Amino acid sequence: MRKLLLCIMALFIGANMAEAKPKVAILATGGTIAGSTDSKLATTGYTAGVLGVEVLIQAVPELKNLADITGEQIANVDSSNMTDEIWLKLAKRCNELLSKVDGIVITHGTDTMEETAYFLNLVLKSDKAVVLVGAMRPATAISADGPKNLYNAVALAANPNAKGKGVMVAMNDKILGARDVQKTHTLNVNAFDFGNLGYIVDGKVFFNSTNLKAHTKKTDFDISKLKTLPKVDILYTYSNDGSGVAAKALFENGTKGLVIAGSGAGSIHTAQKEVLKDLLKKGLKVAVSSRVKSGFVAVGDEDKKIGFISAQDLNPQKARVLLMLALTKTNDTKKIAEWFLKY
Ligand code: SIN
Repeated sequence: MRKLLLCIMALFIGANMAEAKPKVAILATGGTIAGSTDSKLATTGYTAGVLGVEVLIQAVPELKNLADITGEQIANVDSSNMTDEIWLKLAKRCNELLSKVDGIVITHGTDTMEETAYFLNLVLKSDKAVVLVGAMRPATAISADGPKNLYNAVALAANPNAKGKGVMVAMNDKILGARDVQKTHTLNVNAFDFGNLGYIVDGKVFFNSTNLKAHTKKTDFDISKLKTLPKVDILYTYSNDGSGVAAKALFENGTKGLVIAGSGAGSIHTAQKEVLKDLLKKGLKVAVSSRVKSGFVAVGDEDKKIGFISAQDLNPQKARVLLMLALTKTNDTKKIAEWFLKY
């Protein structure tokens, strides 16, 4: 009789263990993945950030085969309207949830996804997988890409090999690392490139590369007590760009740091540079990036001495994220320049 009871118990535990699925939380912030319009043919002119997280989950019943899913609405915006307030709310919620779940998927507009991904890559305090996902076509469109992308993102977040890889983006069957990923096409479903870490094929995850820069648990940044972030802006370089009006106006209105989207390897028009030199003396921090889509920025020794910081190979929008976080910790230009090398 005792043996029979033990057998029944073992069978019961075994069955439960077989059913135990990873826990994945889906945090929704809006974007085209939650976009809707009357016309099935429209891939422009729709409203992003309309559908709620439960609608997104219900649209892909197969998610249940991958993980135990919970959904939370953090915001519902077009990501061009992303704010520091939403970033801080999202990051704090991720840090809370990461002790309770196996992975997190964040649905997000594609326009600023790379900025949010890099921000989270620098402030989350866990090894567990955090995956951003979006769509290029609204949920109402013929051939909407959102459901497949969401399925892939959950498959990735639930995969044990995704641990320790830093924050990732899952778009169009690709796995892309938060530091390097960029949106490179305005409308095509194959809109994301750089930072390629691997692929997701039919729900199976394949990694083929890794990101060597410090991230998540290994960063110097802590947003747990922050309510705001320092104001950092971006200025674009172009021919005849010499008045310095914008730089001065931004500084006088509270900007603590500027990222310059320089030409080529980070060149700045001489007249504009003179204005920036003056503002450096008044305490502004200036990181030099490039308007060219890839490659390193060279800041000469003389420029380094007077305070110009190389953004290395970070694009202007990513350099802005890092400069903001750096300014939450220090005003020391040398330290900030070191962090640009580290992250
Ligand atoms: C957005 O970024 O919210 C709109 C565009 C998109 O998600 O593709």
